[in-house]
Amino acid sequence: MAAAAAKTLQKISRKLLLAKVGSSGSSICKAHSLAALSETHEMLRKTCRDFADNELAPIAGQLDKEHRFPKEQVKMMGDLGLMAILVPESYGGAGLDAMSYALAMEEISRGCASTGTILSAHISLYLAPIMTYGNEEQKQKYVTPFVDGSRVGCFGLSEPGNGSDAGAASTTAHLDGDHWVLNGTKAWITNGFESEAAVVFATTDKNLKHKGISAFIVPKPIEGLSLGKKEDKLGIRATSTTYLIFEECRIPKENLLGEPGFGFKIAMTTLDAGRIGIAAQGVGIAQAALDCALDYSAKREAFGAPINKMQMVQAKLADMEVKVQSSRLLTWQAAAFKDAGLNFTKEAAMAKLAASEAATYNAHQAIQILGGMGYVTDMPAERHYRDARITEIYEGTSEIQRLVIAGQLLKEFAQKA
Ligand code: CAA
Repeated sequence: MAAAAAKTLQKISRKLLLAKVGSSGSSICKAHSLAALSETHEMLRKTCRDFADNELAPIAGQLDKEHRFPKEQVKMMGDLGLMAILVPESYGGAGLDAMSYALAMEEISRGCASTGTILSAHISLYLAPIMTYGNEEQKQKYVTPFVDGSRVGCFGLSEPGNGSDAGAASTTAHLDGDHWVLNGTKAWITNGFESEAAVVFATTDKNLKHKGISAFIVPKPIEGLSLGKKEDKLGIRATSTTYLIFEECRIPKENLLGEPGFGFKIAMTTLDAGRIGIAAQGVGIAQAALDCALDYSAKREAFGAPINKMQMVQAKLADMEVKVQSSRLLTWQAAAFKDAGLNFTKEAAMAKLAASEAATYNAHQAIQILGGMGYVTDMPAERHYRDARITEIYEGTSEIQRLVIAGQLLKEFAQKA
């Protein structure tokens, strides 16, 4: 199955490229229609949906129960081209666009939200900043060997003492001969245990605040870097989350990513794009919760009829569908803006805010429709409820998304005035 699907993805990749060439000078309308997907995007969506239905959904509950990283499935996603969907073909990736990434993230997360998290941390937070800011040597060394699902990467920005205030990094880096020496602790590291390299942010001069932060590529394992405990989480339990603890950790001088002091900008632009992925994950979880509620309410009878004949249940299903569709459109809009080369900071934040709240809302309502069956692990509803919660927290809380949206809105208003 994986080999056939990989061929399909290659075909999609070529078709998408041709479509792009055909629409050079693309405006947002030309880039993507929000009413209907292009044939090539539909093909990709179906490939990911089939993979999620066949390989992820049947085992997602077990992975969650065992807190087990889905190594085999990650490799299969690598064989399909999904682990490097945004990486150009010249570096071994599928060379697809942000819309493709959003579609893949939605479908994979619909099948297993944990697997979606592993995919997004690897693509958005590890590969993307190296592809965008890395030099040729860094791309050859830290991107190309990470495209086929045999290796994953991670991202270290938050610290035990700062999360939302990303500019307050206290992890330090100083130059000593041909090496940077890192000291400090990075927290909440998705893929922390399995990753073989990390993009890490550290300050070279605390007095400069965010302008003192630089980004570094850290190979793993390496002397001076140890891992904390594996966090016991509410949801996305098939992912590993831990601390990266740096104690006089020496990395080669050439592992500085981008310009010195440019780390905060690298973090912010990385998170802008990453938020499209988390938005798509939210849509996937919201859709999975709705699917579960639709299925159950058609089969469960009460008062002599299936419960989906009851108007109160229908009202819940209707509200859930509106949440899915509206957050999906916002996600596609953000991806379309990115693909058209427009500023998408506000669009990505709006999509993440709406989709993560849709995921939480729909998972809550699904449990309400399933009643007692929603509260036990025999059905996936309780897992969706637990998995949904993190989407309102990581890659920027809902509160931070509102700050970002308002900040952009006020900027636009000031420019018009
Ligand atoms: N793109 C480019 N530049 C940006 C930017 C963006 N989106 N946002 C801010 N900047 C720039 C500003 O232009 C400014 O530049 P100058 O210094 O040149 O003027 C600079 O960054 C500082 O901007 P602010 O004063 O607005 O920064 P701030 O300190 O007030 O913070 C913030 C802004 C939006 C709150 C930001 O800190 C933020 O996004 N915080 C949330 C962090 C976050 O999402 N963390 C999640 C960690 S990843 C994770 O979850 C781990 C995992 O593995 C899943």
